[in-house]
Amino acid sequence: MTEPAASLGAAMEAIAPGGARRHILLCTHGKCAPAEASQQAWKFLKRRLRELGLADVAQGVLRTRADCLRVCRDGPIALVYPEGTWYRQADERNLERIIQEHLIGGVPVEELVFGRTPLGD
Ligand code: FES
Repeated sequence: MTEPAASLGAAMEAIAPGGARRHILLCTHGKCAPAEASQQAWKFLKRRLRELGLADVAQGVLRTRADCLRVCRDGPIALVYPEGTWYRQADERNLERIIQEHLIGGVPVEELVFGRTPLGD
């Protein structure tokens, strides 16, 4: 049997070998936006990160499907770290902009940003 730490290390190596450049969380709970639209946005996000070569690679983008990010309106709500940038209306069209301009380009899509919660001091 594999040591737990070794097996967890292998799991981490599979999703973020050598670290990630950003992490995006997307709410799919279904209250901030219709459930079907949220699921569609999540599928789109996963597909586009794979297509763009940003999934499961060194310095790629981690993604997490969140049950609820506690805003519960004007969604789907998305949150990008390390900056702690909150996005409203993260549907397919806007996710494409968030991916290209922020996740890849490093520049937040200001017209969709409604909050910032950077971590740390
Ligand atoms: S339901 Fe999406 S933030 Fe709460």
